[in-house]
Amino acid sequence: MIVYVNGQWLEDTEATVSFQDRAFVFADAVYEVLHIYNGALFKLDLHQERLQKGLDTLRIPYRANDLKPVFDELLKRNPGVQRGSLYVQVSRGAAPRAHGLPKLKEPTIVAYVKPFQPDLRIWEQGGRAVLVEDLRWQMCHVKTTGLLLNCMAKEEALERGCDDAIFHRGEIVTEASASNLFIVKNGTLLTHPNGPWILPGITRHVVIELARKEGIPVEEVQFTKADLLAADELFLTGTLSEVAPYVEVDGQKIGNGQVGPVTRRIQEAFRSETGV
Ligand SMILES: Cc1ncc(COP(=O)(O)O)c(C=O)c1O
Repeated sequence: MIVYVNGQWLEDTEATVSFQDRAFVFADAVYEVLHIYNGALFKLDLHQERLQKGLDTLRIPYRANDLKPVFDELLKRNPGVQRGSLYVQVSRGAAPRAHGLPKLKEPTIVAYVKPFQPDLRIWEQGGRAVLVEDLRWQMCHVKTTGLLLNCMAKEEALERGCDDAIFHRGEIVTEASASNLFIVKNGTLLTHPNGPWILPGITRHVVIELARKEGIPVEEVQFTKADLLAADELFLTGTLSEVAPYVEVDGQKIGNGQVGPVTRRIQEAFRSETGV
């Protein structure tokens, strides 16, 4: 696999970054994951926009739009990847360890693509989730590489024999370990509003637009764990999870424990949007 590291094209086994890189020391970096459908990047403009917002928030001086030629070249150099993912990470760069933000001119940029196949079991039958207290920071809208609590939540889900973890802050349900979350109640989609407690997901955005086009009402409102457990349907959305139905939370069935009709409509609309 040919990867991109700071202007160089290298075999993945040859690619390295400095031990002083601030991504490594402080998670001082933002990243994006894009889905490749039929050899093309899905919603590139939205990913670039979000990346730019993250860079601006962290005050990393870099223009996300400058990555476009890198992405094009990556796809060219890895022509077998018809269905896959592209990972890109921009860190502030390498500097001797100090908490203040150094004024570095050269960010560290790493990008690579790899093949990806969706989890059809969850898409078709629905997954099982556990509820986990959301102990993450108050800037979850910034897509930094500081994902340890997301990883620990996912691990807790796996250890409990489930597929994913759903975060809650007190009674309020926020999102999942690497996906946004929607419930269906009486034909209406409910999802946590954008803000510091969730990542403003690209898939979430696409799903809201598709639902409105389909005539399905959407409300961006907070709801509780009790609302979640009493929902008719539940699904998660993410670049790689796409539209993933969930039929059980903490051992309790959601609705009748089967993937519901509204979720199926959203999945179908999303599938046509991606062209696969
Ligand atoms: C915490 C979290 N929420 C939501 C999402 C979904 O975002 P997107 O649809 O842009 O992939 C992700 C994706 O990685 C995530 O990590």
